[in-house]
Amino acid sequence: MCGIVGYIGPRDATPIILQGLKRLEYRGYDSAGVAVLQNGHIEVRRDAGKLSRLTKLVEEKPLSGHIGIGHTRWATHGEPNARNAHPHIGMTGEVVVVHNGIVENFLELREELAAEGAEFHSDTDTETIVHLVERLMGAQQGLEQAAMQTFHRLKGHQSVVLLSSREPDKIVAARLGNAGGVVIGFGEDEMFVASDLPAILEHTREVVFLENGEMAIVTREGVRLQTLDGAPIERAPQTVPWDPVAAEKGEYRHFMQKEIHEQVRSLTDTIAGRVDFEAGRVYLPQLNLTPELARRIKRIVITACGTAYHAGLVGKYLIEHIARLPVEVDVASELRYRDPIIDEDTVLLAISQSGETADTLAAMAEGRTRGATLWAVVNVIGSQAMRVADGYISMQTGPEIGVASTKAYTAPLVDLYMLAILLADLRGILDEQERRRLVAALRLVPDLAGQALEREPEVEAAARSLLETKHCLYLGRGINMPTAYEGALKLKEISYIHAEGYPAGEMKHGPIALIDRDMPVVVIATQDRWYEKMLSQIEQVKSRGGPVVAVATEGDEMIASLADHVLWVPETPWMLSPVVNVIPLQMLAYHIAALLGLDVDQPRNLAKSVTVE
Ligand code: F6R
Repeated sequence: MCGIVGYIGPRDATPIILQGLKRLEYRGYDSAGVAVLQNGHIEVRRDAGKLSRLTKLVEEKPLSGHIGIGHTRWATHGEPNARNAHPHIGMTGEVVVVHNGIVENFLELREELAAEGAEFHSDTDTETIVHLVERLMGAQQGLEQAAMQTFHRLKGHQSVVLLSSREPDKIVAARLGNAGGVVIGFGEDEMFVASDLPAILEHTREVVFLENGEMAIVTREGVRLQTLDGAPIERAPQTVPWDPVAAEKGEYRHFMQKEIHEQVRSLTDTIAGRVDFEAGRVYLPQLNLTPELARRIKRIVITACGTAYHAGLVGKYLIEHIARLPVEVDVASELRYRDPIIDEDTVLLAISQSGETADTLAAMAEGRTRGATLWAVVNVIGSQAMRVADGYISMQTGPEIGVASTKAYTAPLVDLYMLAILLADLRGILDEQERRRLVAALRLVPDLAGQALEREPEVEAAARSLLETKHCLYLGRGINMPTAYEGALKLKEISYIHAEGYPAGEMKHGPIALIDRDMPVVVIATQDRWYEKMLSQIEQVKSRGGPVVAVATEGDEMIASLADHVLWVPETPWMLSPVVNVIPLQMLAYHIAALLGLDVDQPRNLAKSVTVE
């Protein structure tokens, strides 16, 4: 995950920035850089690879000054090499930027800027920001004004931090959407800027967090907050505890809430470096998937537990639909004791956040014995599942601390979508136009997730109405049937409210007997090919007095008139809709449990990694 650190004050900025970046190192990155204003000029050092390489570079070519910004980068646009590493400096050498997130309209901006004479020195979307600011600063405008106008031109979710040698007394930072936070730290005659609290905690406990659509003008003396239109914002600094756990939670009450909100960032990182939007292709090099293997595979058996199993169920839809390969999904604790039909032409694909789940590992061992090719989708690098697999996809979510899995559910959905495209392509069953269409849809995902997250206040209101609930039914159909399962699992594990996920069409075969006014039904009724059927499901629940909470596509007045509560999501391509539709259900479970005062991050009887049978 990308990280940002900035400093302004009497001390040497370089070691403070490098140390701050080190504190964020465990989240993963592939290149790093620092820019410092030295004797009136911006000096940049950056390199691919680990921070130790950057530190060595700084030792060889020292830079020192009292104001600077630094960055650790997960490649999104362009390879993880030195020229694509942040910070990016403009053509005049007077403006420098670091950035988290994606400038969605960067191709359009790049064309416009290039037509006006801008020369680009990287393949990144970020570089467009610095050229825009430079152009807008021109001869008369200040950094602040130019930055404001630039922020209005950027589409997508991102955080941006800028400095200019023309105005050596300030750093300008902005949070535009949900691609991670921006925190400003107060010191004695010095100030700090970071994407995450741990980066600056050794220097200060007095901080303010930026909300979406806010910017900060940071000087040595303090910070001025304003909207992107320049309206001032008053916000007193808050004191954060030294406790490193609390610090890691940042502006959130619980890790689960933080991790739910991190999904824009984790989904950005999931597609980062693996998708070439211009060529319309995906790359999953660690899977070791050759064209020969892709053609030889007769079937895929997905195995996993809990939330990861639900991701596998979505994977079945995706792989069968896109790659036309038969897929079976098996709970790992069952597969290990069956006599499964697995042979050399089978791929056994394990999904596991921890990569250490005993049942999943045993199912993999079973696959190994029967001669299958073993693949794993895992979050923890170096875990057992990753080590025993013949190929793997690493989830790019960063550590997941809340016991209830959230960001490690949505990332593998996108991984499986990319896998399905790759398989179909290598098997020669995907025409170029369709491949490009499927790949292009990936670009939308982080932003759509961000739009769903913005609806949190309405989800919280729905949560308040469900606090007395003892039982709850979740219904979904098609590719969102697993979304219903996952929504129900989230609710039961952290709120201890009994919840069942059901394929909507099955309701009439039994569960309908349960419906009365004490049985709320959560339906996933977004506008897709199953929509009409879900509408009739809602009617059936309503006619029996059951309260309905519907996940629905923004603007759907029909649903608004039928449901008691609507959890709105943006319109999303149907194959990626499980990624977006689960977000309000994660937030619903979270808010119910938090309002009930429960231990959200460590629910009773559960462990993050189940290493026993
Ligand atoms: C639910 C949850 C569990 C895990 C399951 C598998 O929120 O976290 O259901 O998904 O225990 O764990 P991993 O993915 O580590 O194999």
